[in-house]
Amino acid sequence: VSPRILQFGVTGQLASELLRQKGDLDIAALSRPEADLADPAACADVVRGTRPDVVIIAAAYTAVDQAESETDLAFRINAEAPGAIAAACTDVGAALIHISTDYVFDGDKGAPYAEDDATNPINVYGASKLAGEAAVLAACDRALVIRASWVVSAHGKNFVKTMLRIASESRPLKVVADQFGRPTSAQDLAAFILAQVRSPSPRFGLVHFANAGETSWHGFAEEILGRPVDRSATADWPAPAKRPLRGTLDTTRLETQFGVTPRPWQAALADILHDLKEVQA
Ligand SMILES: NC(=O)c1ccc[n+]([C@@H]2O[C@H](COP(=O)([O-])OP(=O)(O)OC[C@H]3O[C@@H](n4cnc5c(N)ncnc54)[C@H](OP(=O)(O)O)[C@@H]3O)[C@@H](O)[C@H]2O)c1
Repeated sequence: VSPRILQFGVTGQLASELLRQKGDLDIAALSRPEADLADPAACADVVRGTRPDVVIIAAAYTAVDQAESETDLAFRINAEAPGAIAAACTDVGAALIHISTDYVFDGDKGAPYAEDDATNPINVYGASKLAGEAAVLAACDRALVIRASWVVSAHGKNFVKTMLRIASESRPLKVVADQFGRPTSAQDLAAFILAQVRSPSPRFGLVHFANAGETSWHGFAEEILGRPVDRSATADWPAPAKRPLRGTLDTTRLETQFGVTPRPWQAALADILHDLKEVQA
């Protein structure tokens, strides 16, 4: 029998990819008006009322700079709500898949981060997501928390679409060359999540997921546009939230324990660019 899946989020990058790839899976997805994560108790009530087999939290407060001035709201959405949903999952015997971020790290390690490395968020968004991980793992034994980084797709707001828009407007472009990480295709992340949902022996705990290969935002921009781009430094762009300079995720656990080898980020990007061309055609 196909599991009954309850998904928080409809419109976001990951949420749309999950729905696009769900095939014959029975996913009931709730948009913000149907289940507002700013009301954690109401979200938990939906889980208790519908008694799904699996819950996927594909929505989050993702406005990194805005979070600096909306700390309470960011924590309610990214920490309290996932914690309340996780407790409800335990009550009804549901498994839970939740998404976190490389921004739980400060980026100062000098090497890629493994799951058990010390966390030390340097902005409110990262702190709220870290609190969410802890709340989920404390409240639900059957929870998988997946840390992703630099999520991009053909839908929604993201770096790929921003670079293409700036280039199409022929505006001058300078991109930060001193922040490093691993792009994550929402398409590939969604495929991994749905494979876990379908698996007869799903795994729980904490795992990193990102496409293979490290780059800077500048290197990413050059690959997106297929031409040289001017460089800038993080210090040239004063922003409310600090960013980790190298929060690169190590995916050894993904490869050895989950048997998943992510494809290079360039291959994932090629799919996104192809999808975007089809939309324009
Ligand atoms: N984007 C990244 O670079 C990145 C990097 C690492 C990890 N992650 C994590 O990956 C996951 C998926 O991110 P994403 O890139 O798909 O996010 P996204 O494209 O920014 O979409 C966020 C989604 O959350 C929904 N949402 C926001 N506030 C809500 C609320 N109060 N109640 C219910 N829904 C709400 C939004 O709905 P509306 O359309 O109504 O606003 C939207 O569907 C998140 O957990 C995020 O923290 C993202």
